[in-house]
Amino acid sequence: MAPTAFSLVSALALASLSLAAPSAPGWSFDLKKETSGIVALEAIVVSPTLVVFFDRASDDPLQINNHSAWGALWNLESSTVRPLDVLTNSFCASGALLSNGTMASVGGDPDGFVGNPAIRPGNQAIRLFEPCDSPTGDGCTLFEDPATLHLLEKRWYPSSARIFDGSLIIVGGMHEATPFYNTDPALSFEFFPRKEDTPRPSEFLNRSLPANLFPRVFALPDGKVFMVANNQSIIYDIEAKTERILPDVPNNVRVTNPMDGSAILLPLSPPDFVPEVLVCGGSQTDTIDPSLLTSQTPASSQCSRIRLDEEGIAKGWEVEHMLEGRIMPELVHLPNGQVLIANGGRTGFAAIASVSEPVGNSNADHPVLVPSLYTPDAPLGRRISNVGLPSSGIPRLYHSSVTLTPQGNFLIAGSNPNNRTTVGPGIKFPSEFRVQTLDPPFMSVERPKILNMPKKLGFNKSFTVPISVPSSLARPGAKVQISLMDLGFSSHAFHSSARLVFMNGKISQDSKSLTFTTPPNGRVYPPGPATVFLTIDDVTSEGAWVMMGSGNSPPTLE
Ligand SMILES: *[C@@H]1O[C@H](CO)[C@@H](O)[C@H](O)[C@H]1NC(C)=O
Ligand SMILES: *[C@@H]1O[C@H](CO)[C@@H](O)[C@H](O)[C@H]1NC(C)=O
Ligand SMILES: *[C@@H]1O[C@H](CO)[C@@H](O)[C@H](O)[C@H]1NC(C)=O
Ligand SMILES: *[C@@H]1O[C@H](CO)[C@@H](O)[C@H](O)[C@H]1NC(C)=O
Ligand SMILES: *[C@@H]1O[C@H](CO)[C@@H](O)[C@H](O)[C@H]1NC(C)=O
Ligand SMILES: *[C@@H]1O[C@H](CO)[C@@H](O)[C@H](O)[C@H]1NC(C)=O
Repeated sequence: MAPTAFSLVSALALASLSLAAPSAPGWSFDLKKETSGIVALEAIVVSPTLVVFFDRASDDPLQINNHSAWGALWNLESSTVRPLDVLTNSFCASGALLSNGTMASVGGDPDGFVGNPAIRPGNQAIRLFEPCDSPTGDGCTLFEDPATLHLLEKRWYPSSARIFDGSLIIVGGMHEATPFYNTDPALSFEFFPRKEDTPRPSEFLNRSLPANLFPRVFALPDGKVFMVANNQSIIYDIEAKTERILPDVPNNVRVTNPMDGSAILLPLSPPDFVPEVLVCGGSQTDTIDPSLLTSQTPASSQCSRIRLDEEGIAKGWEVEHMLEGRIMPELVHLPNGQVLIANGGRTGFAAIASVSEPVGNSNADHPVLVPSLYTPDAPLGRRISNVGLPSSGIPRLYHSSVTLTPQGNFLIAGSNPNNRTTVGPGIKFPSEFRVQTLDPPFMSVERPKILNMPKKLGFNKSFTVPISVPSSLARPGAKVQISLMDLGFSSHAFHSSARLVFMNGKISQDSKSLTFTTPPNGRVYPPGPATVFLTIDDVTSEGAWVMMGSGNSPPTLE
């Protein structure tokens, strides 16, 4: 579609939206005073106030035990950082929260780094961070024991997702260092905790070589798992151990590392929770030979969406376009069901100093500074707009992270298309330590509040909780949304396990209580930590941190 026609359509769509809310305050970026201390190339919210950041073992400024740290805890209340001691190299790992609330980070870099002599290889690592009750993280540490607690197969650049029994499926990756793309692949799946003593071979991972690092993986509401890597997609049945081949992503677009697009499971709604997956960005090149690629190769603007029921699969992918091409975009849920599209570059590739004409060490160029919003329910071709979205002013290319926070805004950090800490004049894309939030309009108005929430919520149950609703929102007919969310593990333009399940419910006539019904089972929302948000007419409350399910260690069916 011609770009002019396209932007006209979105401008018209937005014009009508802004008429509906004439005095609405805008979106804004807020730069924090303190920096992240390490390059925050991975980020996961582990409690209502704490985010774990991981970098590679390198020469970052933040110190612990007389060496550079490569793990850190970011405090969302005070916007401050403290180092976290890590044993193994967490560079390019994945991770998630388990059914018992413990965070597991898996895989990583096989090598150490000269500045960190004590570093251990990370490619078979499992790093655990147990639930932390201290709002500031006092006494909370990572646990590692490489001799007894490790993956079956070596995995650098793997993916993972929490599944219906609260454990993790761990997917793909490569064994050791390879140039640019996957030449030494781990063509298998495994689980944490283990379900068997050998990894499960995967034809899909073989078929999707060579641009298949960090496969995009989602637990579906029937317990199966959707995966997309390169331009291939499947549904994997964990219980039957079978792969069902789905249509390719259209038009030769490849969406996984080093041609990173991103993917997201769109919000699941009762009563049927029909899953739909959206994949955006990446690259439309036939070759993966880095000598034939440059930092100026245009990225793909394509967004492809597929509904994963029989009818939707028969219909295949539906295509539309972002306002610009993006390599390494981030797709992140808002509690109201919209999707934030942020970061990445208009040209080039992921990885470091491998293609022609790198910009310094960066394989990518032309950073996209203005986010867009994707509205799933809008008509095809009118779903994406950046009207009212500000510029971040900070390029976020390879090795950056974004996460929704329990406060309802987005925490944005990282970017480092360099081998080590690289800062200084003349460096266009330095190691980035600045931390920002992207604050939605509702952060600056009076918001609904969830005044109390049980710590644990059982499946298929009804709960009534006290709330307060500002008078401006207490009107009959207001749009009420109650979302149960996993905020995901952000690494390499993908948010492992990120999920939004809408819950049926309603606000009492006096606006003082909210009654809602939890998802029917752990297939719809894999048992584990969740954040509950109440949104009234697009004004979202702060989230309530809960345990969805029993809180038992995996595997658990409740
Ligand atoms: C850190 O280095 C200082 C000075 O070299 C030394 O005195 C101190 O014992 C070291 N601390 C640790 C925890 O190794
Ligand atoms: C991967 O696919 C190739 C080409 O079809 C085949 O020769 C090879 O045996 C496969 N490898 C594995 C491990 O399945
Ligand atoms: C997917 O990639 C393969 C391998 O490059 C190619 O043969 C195939 O045509 C692509 N599919 C589509 C729909 O573009
Ligand atoms: C960065 O590291 C890669 C692989 O470790 C190496 O091949 C490359 O030469 C390094 N580049 C720079 C600029 O140091
Ligand atoms: C959920 O609970 C209702 C009764 O409250 C029951 O009829 C229904 O079968 C339950 N569903 C599941 C999936 O357990
Ligand atoms: C959670 O489960 C994992 C996997 O079995 C285990 O390693 C961890 O210690 C458990 N954490 C808690 C708090 O029970």
